[in-house]
Amino acid sequence: MATTRVWDAFVRIFHWGLVTSFAVAWLSGDDWKSLHIWAGYAAAGLIGLRLVWGLIGTRYARFSQFVRSPLVVASYLRDVATGREARYLGHNPAGGVMIVALLATLSGLCLSGWLLTTDTFWGSELMEGTHEALANLALVLVALHIAGVVLASLRHHENLIRSMVTGRKPAPEPGDVA
Ligand code: HEM
Ligand code: HEM
Repeated sequence: MATTRVWDAFVRIFHWGLVTSFAVAWLSGDDWKSLHIWAGYAAAGLIGLRLVWGLIGTRYARFSQFVRSPLVVASYLRDVATGREARYLGHNPAGGVMIVALLATLSGLCLSGWLLTTDTFWGSELMEGTHEALANLALVLVALHIAGVVLASLRHHENLIRSMVTGRKPAPEPGDVA
């Protein structure tokens, strides 16, 4: 099958690096603080680099390519509900919303975690509660994200998870949005 390159090496390393640091931070949050803080900083560093790459990176890595207006997102979701949404070579409009939501939530999560290490917020119950709530929100978003990836893979008969490893996707066909 003819394939085409979509995700550059940075996006792929970023993605699986973020998955790893998020998982480690999540599992070590309660009782392995030094590991937790390192994993959290790794996630924060990856997100910071991703924000820059979203401005200067390759075509399908750019925010301007996949962050779309609420009207476009709503009409895409209507098409999903009726089973006739187009296949997107890059992120689909709903995926774009999820990426913004994940990056924003994880940024707030890392910021609140860092604040917990400062003199001002050390031991602050409000900040601990904020950090924990954002961690739980991130977990919910990740679950929805994975569900969306599986759904889109099934609907368009392609393995999006493998594409995030190899960077390649089946070449676009007429009717696809490339
Ligand atoms: C093992 C579980 C996961 C799988 C299988 C997975 C799979 C994927 C796939 C296939 C894409 C590309 C979607 C598309 O084709 O449009 C993607 C994108 C993305 N995922 Fe995941 N994901 C997982 C976990 C996570 C986690 C835990 C996070 C964050 C904590 C995350 C954050 C993201 C982000 C930010 C993107 C956008 C990538 C970019 O453009 O830089 N994912 N994921
Ligand atoms: C992907 C990023 C992160 C995730 C998923 C995460 C998740 C968590 C979780 C689940 C807890 C346990 C909450 C509880 O049960 O009380 C926790 C606690 C904590 N985290 Fe994070 N965190 C992240 C980033 C960070 C960062 C960047 C820092 C600091 C630089 C940090 C500092 C802390 C501290 C100090 C606590 C202890 C708070 C307490 O005693 O309740 N976290 N985090």
